[in-house]
Amino acid sequence: MTMQELNEAVNKRRTFAIISHPDAGKTTITEQLLLFGGIVRQAGTVKAKKTGNFAKSDWMEIEKKRGISVTSSVMQFDYAGKRVNILDTPGHEDFSEDTYRTLMAVDSAVMVIDSAKGIEPQTKKLFKICKMRGIPIFTFINKLDRDGREPMDLIAELEEVLGIEGYAMNWPIGMGKGLKGLYDIYNNRIELYRREDKGETFLELTENGEIAGDSALKEESIYTQVLDEIELIKGAGSEFDSQKIAQGELTPVFFGSALTNFGVKTFLDAYLQFAPAPSAHKTSTEEKIVPTSAEFSGFVFKIQANMNPNHRDRIAFVRICSGEFVRGMDVVLQRTGKKLRLSNSTQFMADTRENVETAVAGDIIGLYDTGNFQIGDTIYTGKKDFQFEKLPQFTPELFMRVTAKNVMKQKSFHKGIQQLVQEGAVQLYQSYSTGDYILGAVGQLQFEVFQFRMANEYNSEVVMTPMGQKTARWIDPAQLDEKMSSSRNLLVKDRQGAPLFLFENAFAERWFKDKYPNVKLTSKL
Ligand code: G4P
Repeated sequence: MTMQELNEAVNKRRTFAIISHPDAGKTTITEQLLLFGGIVRQAGTVKAKKTGNFAKSDWMEIEKKRGISVTSSVMQFDYAGKRVNILDTPGHEDFSEDTYRTLMAVDSAVMVIDSAKGIEPQTKKLFKICKMRGIPIFTFINKLDRDGREPMDLIAELEEVLGIEGYAMNWPIGMGKGLKGLYDIYNNRIELYRREDKGETFLELTENGEIAGDSALKEESIYTQVLDEIELIKGAGSEFDSQKIAQGELTPVFFGSALTNFGVKTFLDAYLQFAPAPSAHKTSTEEKIVPTSAEFSGFVFKIQANMNPNHRDRIAFVRICSGEFVRGMDVVLQRTGKKLRLSNSTQFMADTRENVETAVAGDIIGLYDTGNFQIGDTIYTGKKDFQFEKLPQFTPELFMRVTAKNVMKQKSFHKGIQQLVQEGAVQLYQSYSTGDYILGAVGQLQFEVFQFRMANEYNSEVVMTPMGQKTARWIDPAQLDEKMSSSRNLLVKDRQGAPLFLFENAFAERWFKDKYPNVKLTSKL
């Protein structure tokens, strides 16, 4: 690839993830997007759960047992001159730290909200990570074909709950059974939910924003109401500001119904216009690596183990940050300084895996791994030695005490734990008073994967005792007095030896803060 070809290829890339709470419609919208991209597939195949179509897949046993996908796959398609990469962010019970880490590998995010429910807890958590990264966030308010909350209310909630301004790109004309269409502010047109007799989908608007020609809609009271609302938001709402969008301070808001494929194309067209191409990535020294650099570089953001139970292989997911990937190329693994040949790679296109020949900055590749990689690893070509910025640590919310079932097998137990923790599968803590091992996770699935892999890869059966949900708060060691610990706030240390309390609940945390007003407690992300 010449430099010019690389430049063009990189600037075509749009890499994003969809953040939402389960059932908001992420799968439905993803399928619609894939259809626009010409990836024709049976409806419902993104979510294996619903088709029960596991036979051909070689996912790990745990996936089959639970009927869910542990694999956060990457879907790629071409549309309107862009190459789109959608990274799946598993929700439901398969929510895990990987879901968070996936957000480290995207350039923008699409937030899907159920119009009847508004902002829900998982959306809030995922939003926080995107906000921290300062990436652009685009909002799609879904399920307009059902009765939902007032649009004004939903936009106000963005600001109140998430602290991000919303800019309405379009506005619903009615909802549920009364849904007539979208008043498309951005494109200055009306998109009809059901076409009128002439077969027109779009109605033109005059300069003052009213329907130009004849239309039955003009007679509807909802039309006049929407004109009033539009006037109101044009006067009092946020201004369109592409700078603010780029920094994640303002989110363009689109309405629609994924199920009936209404407003999805309008959303996609505008999204691709404003979503950023891959940009420079920070290294640990704050220096930036530009995506169009001649040298290849990337980082591992996720490791998927045991995709095929017959083999002990793993797949390391790499976000390419610069240059071009060519199969069989040699790279340096920064952490060890070792040279590696990348001969066995895969790219994920929906649920079919294909060997990828080339990929460029912005793309995600899966590398078959025999144990070389860890989450956060940097790989590169060229002489310059550097490391990408560390991936953040996330605050776990669920905890388990863990011991070896067979006391005679301590060695494999310790080895397994150390390796799985290092790999980023779960977080490990140790009780100050008893020395017990405690695992921390953001989702239940992480424990199940841990238990499964301990037995299968390290031949170590483990006993896990749930401790439930806790609030983890780190404390400055200089302020720590072991007497501060009680049954309601267990004192533990993390892998780096830093002390933290696991609070039983918000009440216990407040009680502690009242008792020790000068003690500073902090959380990770
Ligand atoms: P998720 O991936 O975010 O969890 O959500 P998913 O797309 O699976 O959607 C959750 C449910 O909401 C599905 O119904 C889906 O059909 C429905 N849905 C998605 N978008 C819309 C929409 O625009 N309007 C309406 N009315 N419903 C929508 P389900 O009954 O749980 O699943 P299924 O058995 O129908 O597939």
